Amino acid sequence: MYQVLYRKWRPKRFDDVVGQPQVTTTLKNEMKSGRINHAYLFTGSRGTGKTTCSKILAKAVNCLNPQDGDPCCECENCRGIDDGSILDVVEMDAASNRGINDIREVIEEAQFRPTRAKYRVYIIDEVHMLTTEAFNALLKTLEEPPEHDIFILATTEVHKLPATILSRCQRFDFNRIAPEAISARLKYVAEQENAEITDEAALLIAAIADGAMRDALSLMDRCLGMSSGITAEIVRSAAGLARKDYLFELSSACINKNPAKALEYIAKLHNASKDMARLCDELIDHFRNLMMIKSTKNARNMLIMSEDEFDEAQRQADYLTLAEVIYIMDILQTAYSRMGKGNSNRTELEMALVKLSAPELDGSTEALTARIAALEKAVKSGSIQTSAPEPTEKPEEKPEEQTSDPEETEPLSPPKAMTQIPKQDETKSDAPESPKPEAVKKRPGSLEEIYEKAVPFREWPELVDNIKNYSRSIGGALNGTKAYVSGNYLLIDSDSEITFARLRESSQRDEVKKAIKEITGKVYKLGPYKKPEKKEKTTDPLKTFIGDVKKLGINVTEE
Ligand SMILES: Nc1ncnc2c1ncn2[C@@H]1O[C@H](COP(=O)(O)OP(=O)(O)OP(=O)(O)O)[C@@H](O)[C@H]1O
Ligand SMILES: [Mg+2]
Ligand SMILES: [Zn+2]
Repeated sequence: MYQVLYRKWRPKRFDDVVGQPQVTTTLKNEMKSGRINHAYLFTGSRGTGKTTCSKILAKAVNCLNPQDGDPCCECENCRGIDDGSILDVVEMDAASNRGINDIREVIEEAQFRPTRAKYRVYIIDEVHMLTTEAFNALLKTLEEPPEHDIFILATTEVHKLPATILSRCQRFDFNRIAPEAISARLKYVAEQENAEITDEAALLIAAIADGAMRDALSLMDRCLGMSSGITAEIVRSAAGLARKDYLFELSSACINKNPAKALEYIAKLHNASKDMARLCDELIDHFRNLMMIKSTKNARNMLIMSEDEFDEAQRQADYLTLAEVIYIMDILQTAYSRMGKGNSNRTELEMALVKLSAPELDGSTEALTARIAALEKAVKSGSIQTSAPEPTEKPEEKPEEQTSDPEETEPLSPPKAMTQIPKQDETKSDAPESPKPEAVKKRPGSLEEIYEKAVPFREWPELVDNIKNYSRSIGGALNGTKAYVSGNYLLIDSDSEITFARLRESSQRDEVKKAIKEITGKVYKLGPYKKPEKKEKTTDPLKTFIGDVKKLGINVTEE
């Protein structure tokens, strides 16, 4: 009869147990010196050796010929316990025998001496499942355990145990097993089974098993069903790790601020009966991967992905800051925790993704800081203007050739001209209306207002890279520039006249717009960015003069 690998390869001695020296070494030493407890608590995550060590301990206390604290596995007691013919080792699953009567049976039996072994050993698995009544009955027995009885309580959820029980037991914590230790064990078992497994495949299985040896052996079992030579490819298909393109698509919609595409994808997946909560969870995992890539050096070894996928994940990670990745995970996590509580799961996911992909809803600290800064600037410059003296210099005229496309209404002119406010009567009718110099309040849609509402466009460097695919020359001209967004305007900040000379050519401008639309999903009008003016300083010739003199190292008083 075929026996599953993890049963077949359950360690029989402490020395064979992998990755739990804090348990096995201590227990061996205690066995050697004959210090035997009456209550043990084994806790830790699943498949890490709790039941295994309980059985080894049961043998060790009863072995007729113990070897350095380990059971010999050959004497009649060891063999009897291993094959189940000795009834003095009792396994009880508290998950299905939770009640007072189940425990009472155990307790009553405990009053009698063991029949064949030295010690009767009760292994109570999933002990946290017992009812309160049952716990109390067990507690009484643990307070005064019969000489010949040993209780081993095992649980994955130690926090559910009453403190009274905890204080009666000697506690051992089982750790998740390190990937290297799991992979070494897999290679050993494979060799014993006359099979082959590559290093990469063994590590991949270990990574998927996430510290649980049982899961690792089960997955290797499934792989062996496919081939006796296990490669990473076989592991991937046995584990059902098909490439998840939709995760990359959805995440790229967020990165590129394209809500329409995100919603389209959700609709598509919903129609294909994809579970929305599951999808949300997978997305969180996806961004967690990006987080790992951004914050650790050897992310490659920690992530369960093919080379292709890793390259793509790395590319996506490059577009985001760590703070942005965490912000995205936070929004998705909130959506996930709200699922199944009234709103449809699909709506929750849609809301989250629209929030993440619509730039105007971007609530990240950076975006908010930028917005607050812009507001403060607006307030400041507004109050300055009401009390500021009239500019003493006449603003320069806007040059005629500012736009070659008659339907363009962009404030596109050389940066030098843009630092001055054009006179109202000289402004061309197709350009945004400019305020009169003496205007106290800014009119909506005025150039002033456009500049004051401008917020930094954080994706600009990424966009410039994309523009290079359309036109090398314009992409080059935009290198190192900054950009701001204000309503429908995308304002470029550059010290170089060449940038604007290029942008005045309508063919070049169209390329730039196309590239912007591809990334943002939005059509922007282009214009140069003008830094907010500090009027009192630049318009007062006396102050300018004093400033200049001070720069020369001459001391003057401003009276
Ligand atoms: N530390 C380990 N070293 C070697 N093999 C292990 C180890 N832990 C688990 N295994 C393998 O996994 C199988 C299951 O382990 P075991 O039943 O001891 O886990 P457990 O901790 O009791 O898990 P659960 O919490 O699910 O009951 C064992 O039969 C053995 O093959
Ligand atoms: Mg167990
Ligand atoms: Zn023995």
